[in-house]
Amino acid sequence: MQLANASQEQLNQWEQSLSAEYDAIKAKGLSLDLTRGKPSAEQLSLSDALDGILQQNYITDSGVDARNYGGLEGIAEARALGEQLMGVPSSNIIAGGNSSLTLMYQLMTTAYFFGLEGADSAWQKEGEIKFLCPVPGYDRHFSICEQLGIEMVNVPMTSNGPDMDAVEALLRADSSIKGMWCVPKYSNPTGVIYSDETVKRIAALGSIAGKGFRVFWDNAYAVHDLSENPIKLLSIWDAAQAAGTQDSVIQFASTSKITHAGAGVAFVAASDKNLAGYKKVLGIQTIGADKINQLRHAKFFAVPDSLTSHMQKHADIIKPRFASVLKHLEEAFGDNDLGEWESADGGYFISFDTQEGLAKTVVALAGEAGVKLTPAGATFPYGKDPQDSNIRIAPTVPSVEQVDEAMNVFVTCVKLATVRKALSK
Ligand SMILES: Cc1ncc(COP(=O)(O)O)c(C=O)c1O
Repeated sequence: MQLANASQEQLNQWEQSLSAEYDAIKAKGLSLDLTRGKPSAEQLSLSDALDGILQQNYITDSGVDARNYGGLEGIAEARALGEQLMGVPSSNIIAGGNSSLTLMYQLMTTAYFFGLEGADSAWQKEGEIKFLCPVPGYDRHFSICEQLGIEMVNVPMTSNGPDMDAVEALLRADSSIKGMWCVPKYSNPTGVIYSDETVKRIAALGSIAGKGFRVFWDNAYAVHDLSENPIKLLSIWDAAQAAGTQDSVIQFASTSKITHAGAGVAFVAASDKNLAGYKKVLGIQTIGADKINQLRHAKFFAVPDSLTSHMQKHADIIKPRFASVLKHLEEAFGDNDLGEWESADGGYFISFDTQEGLAKTVVALAGEAGVKLTPAGATFPYGKDPQDSNIRIAPTVPSVEQVDEAMNVFVTCVKLATVRKALSK
């Protein structure tokens, strides 16, 4: 389907046949959902042995009774698991509760209200402040900024990560920019892995940004590879040590999409100074996280390489779903300009761009035909996609057959919306 040179008559023909196809789909009364970026029940079941794994042995290797209060930093075994995930020395890791998003929220509010380097460093003292947001990105990051009244500045994503020329230029020009969100591996939703050069340039931002600048490095998909030989993400910890900017980076990860999404362990890794600032505030909020769950996780992954083999099992479940999405996109749009997408080698999403101004229409058409898609705009700050073109596809929860059926509907909706737009010109 090449729209650029198509005659009016040809466009009319396409519109009629696509409309008929669409009506036939609607008549099926489908109820499918490509919105949920969460593990399927089959994936969750891979970790059911967590339940009962302790067999009433609650004492950690260093003699801590996991049932009792205390231990703001988490137990040593859990921090060691964090080291495996994040490649940061466990002495610079805090193992927390079940959600890294909570840790991000806590670090943001600590920096904003109380300051990570004492009260004078609180961002709120500087009045209006801003955050850089690579787009498309993760809506929950944007919600945190929005709630705190932090103005978000869009930065385009490239296939190597955020456009670093734009990032550096913005930071040089504006000292009220206090931070930047990053999902460096299998970025949500583009699936991009930041290149080595990008990681080094981000690590060095602390030396060109205004004071108090922090990169929020959300490595949610650190071990979520789908290919056998995944690209390795350069260590931002090492890069920041080399650049002398270690205070400007705060890293996050969790086992949410490794074990049980609602009952995992989350981690924050940062410099001594940042962790000290965080602990001051954290200690007011809690006496300590759930150490029993931390111990369960440490036992679950006690055997060397068990994390790798466990993630392989996730990949075996997810891969056919990703393959189905990519097959449909390739078949429908591989030889035309109706849409663009990145082929993700891991993570949870595939990001699709329609022609400009069509994402909302496609999402609405799909919804009417029984296929729920993430609302258009959700991948941008304030829910506003300036091009109205990005759609996030999350294929992990439905069965392979359901993904196949949903993608059939999706490509029909994209074609129909695009042909109608061409006709209306
Ligand atoms: C980029 C990113 N960060 C964080 C999360 C949530 O992590 P957690 O379950 O550890 O709060 C998600 C979940 O979809 C995510 O995509």
